[in-house]
Amino acid sequence: MSAAVYELHGLAAVITMNNPPVNGLGFDLRREIVEGLARAEADPKVKVVVLIGSPRAFSGGADIREFGTPKSTAEPGLNTVVRLVESAGKPVVAAVGGACMGGGLELAMACHYRVAAKGAQIALPEVKLGLMPGAGGTQRLPRLVGAEVALNMIVSGEALPSEKLAGTALFDEIADGDLLPAALAFAGKVAAEGGPLKRARDIKIKLPNAEGFFQFARNTVAAAAKNFPAPLKCVDAVAAAASLPFDEGLRLERELFLLLMQSPESRALRHAFFAERAAAKIPDAPEDTPLRKVAKVAVIGAGTMGSGITANFLSAGIPVTLLEAKKEALDKGQAAIRGNYETSAKKGRLKPQQVEERMALLKVTQSYDDVRDADLVIEAVFEDIAVKESVFRKLDEVAKPGAILASNTSTLDLNKIAAFTKRPGDVIGTHFFSPANVMKLLEVVRGEKTAKDVLVTVMGVAKRIKKTAVVSGVCDGFIGNRMVEQYLRQALFLLEEGATPRQVDRAVEKWGMAMGPFRMSDLAGNDIGWAIRKRRYLERPNMKYSKIADRLCEQGRFGQKTGLGWYRYEAGKRDAISDPAVEKMIADYSAEIGVKRRKIGDEEIVQRLVYALVNEGAAILEEGIAQRASDIDMVYLTGYGFPLYRGGPMFYADEVGLYNVVGAMARLAANPHGDPGFWKPAALLEKLANESKRFN
Ligand SMILES: NC(=O)c1ccc[n+]([C@@H]2O[C@H](COP(=O)([O-])OP(=O)(O)OC[C@H]3O[C@@H](n4cnc5c(N)ncnc54)[C@H](O)[C@@H]3O)[C@@H](O)[C@H]2O)c1
Repeated sequence: MSAAVYELHGLAAVITMNNPPVNGLGFDLRREIVEGLARAEADPKVKVVVLIGSPRAFSGGADIREFGTPKSTAEPGLNTVVRLVESAGKPVVAAVGGACMGGGLELAMACHYRVAAKGAQIALPEVKLGLMPGAGGTQRLPRLVGAEVALNMIVSGEALPSEKLAGTALFDEIADGDLLPAALAFAGKVAAEGGPLKRARDIKIKLPNAEGFFQFARNTVAAAAKNFPAPLKCVDAVAAAASLPFDEGLRLERELFLLLMQSPESRALRHAFFAERAAAKIPDAPEDTPLRKVAKVAVIGAGTMGSGITANFLSAGIPVTLLEAKKEALDKGQAAIRGNYETSAKKGRLKPQQVEERMALLKVTQSYDDVRDADLVIEAVFEDIAVKESVFRKLDEVAKPGAILASNTSTLDLNKIAAFTKRPGDVIGTHFFSPANVMKLLEVVRGEKTAKDVLVTVMGVAKRIKKTAVVSGVCDGFIGNRMVEQYLRQALFLLEEGATPRQVDRAVEKWGMAMGPFRMSDLAGNDIGWAIRKRRYLERPNMKYSKIADRLCEQGRFGQKTGLGWYRYEAGKRDAISDPAVEKMIADYSAEIGVKRRKIGDEEIVQRLVYALVNEGAAILEEGIAQRASDIDMVYLTGYGFPLYRGGPMFYADEVGLYNVVGAMARLAANPHGDPGFWKPAALLEKLANESKRFN
């Protein structure tokens, strides 16, 4: 099947792009567009050319399947195609329907005329990958829609429906009915009229006070873009369109595009883009694994997590039966769900009618009879193995055959939970993060016996409720919390050795983490970590742990919920205020254990915290708990506030160079107060570093 189909319709040659799903401008398609154009130019009967895609997409831009392969840069490249289309001797009409984005829009803008279907989605989204348009988009769009609209589109990357751009030079006509007949009729008129071809490059931008406008834009964009260089470069390119001759603007665009392509931020964003897609793939489950139907869901436990989890499904239009042991808790959970929706409605994010529609999908109950017909049951009761046992035994009794039984446990052994049933293949973990209706991350925990179709079905369900799902094997803490435990251990050692909570938090926040470890602990509740440590002291008595956090908890300083934690909080506020009492407690503790406090620099703080994540991540990968390094990155980007522009801990380590990471760890191990065992590189990390390889 060819990537572009060439047909004659009277005087018009129609080139139909045919590279499903979105007419990505891959090598074959680019070549065949050029061939079609040449054929049309050579045929004296042809007076006009129409370039069209599918109803789904004129073209979504570059073919991401070719990224990083020689085909992506093979000639004819997009710039060549654009140049040939623009300089064609016969008029070329783009018939734009569906998605018209990135390179697709750049191609359409190189055509002499454009007819759009209503609702076509128009965008230059390159900025979302830390890039900018690289085939004339920054020069042609401002000429066609005006500098202001173009700047907004290019800097935000957001799509606009074609109607919104009606009346600009981007579209000569917005078609009401079928696109091809409308485009052919328009092409017929163009052919009949003759006259010079319209080229976007020939338009002169009229912008009074351009300098003031772009200065204002630079200030606004710089404030919003913070750690990302691309948006400001986009402003520079659009400013060039308004002030320089077309070809000079094009040269600047090229220069900036290549610069951004090499930037660490764009590399990180592109990594995250592919990592998200990769995370959905299960290497040992064939693509055609049959899915189980999930139309009705039940949630057991209406506490913090159960009510948040329930809301995810209601928002996706999936009915939920919420079962609770205690009547008050059931009422409270139901009220929390409604309250949340009502707050959204007040903020204008939901219509009042939508609140009612969603609540109508919710059934609350105290009887297991009501969960008999659920296709998926998610348990979110107390984190206590005996309670989980009673719930899963009951579910085994009542749930219909083939129902998926999921647990939201954060620390318990999923294989044990599965063994409470006679159907361990149907049991899986769905580890949501709090607040469950907000956080993107879902760790899908694959037990020893979890059936492949159960796993694949749950990954699909995650997508329906708009979560980023990452598969984790069974281990204590799964991927995210197992790594964070080492990060927090290191944070406590830093306090013992001389840092304050504020200093540690500031250093990593400046580096890019959304929240430092101590603010995070205060938010989550210091009692949670305390409970885990108490268990650790018994399970792994040889693991070195600072007792400093226990001191804090012994004083009842559990964090925001008690008004006191590593910081103090004023009633009703969330601002973390440094507390001299805590600083004194820390200094006293150092004295007690005989550590002479020293000044610790930000670089050391960041290295110790981030490399603690990296080393545990490497162990997790080595043990097969994570399927791939990029999955670990997704966990940290979507669940732990890791800076997107650094691409996740494993990608960041790759960028630093694993050899350098191991070198830094060797230096940290020499710290006389430190735990030398802590910095022993995981075998996989050491091996990759020796072989000059990367995780990703
Ligand atoms: N809170 C978090 O941040 C978080 C994050 C991820 C996972 N989890 C896990 O989610 C689960 C629930 O945690 P939570 O924070 O929502 O707890 P929670 O205490 O807020 O809610 C638990 C609810 O379960 C109910 N319940 C207890 N036994 C029951 C039974 N036999 N049948 C029906 N209902 C019963 C309780 O009445 C309570 O309302 C735990 O396994 C926890 O480890 C919690």
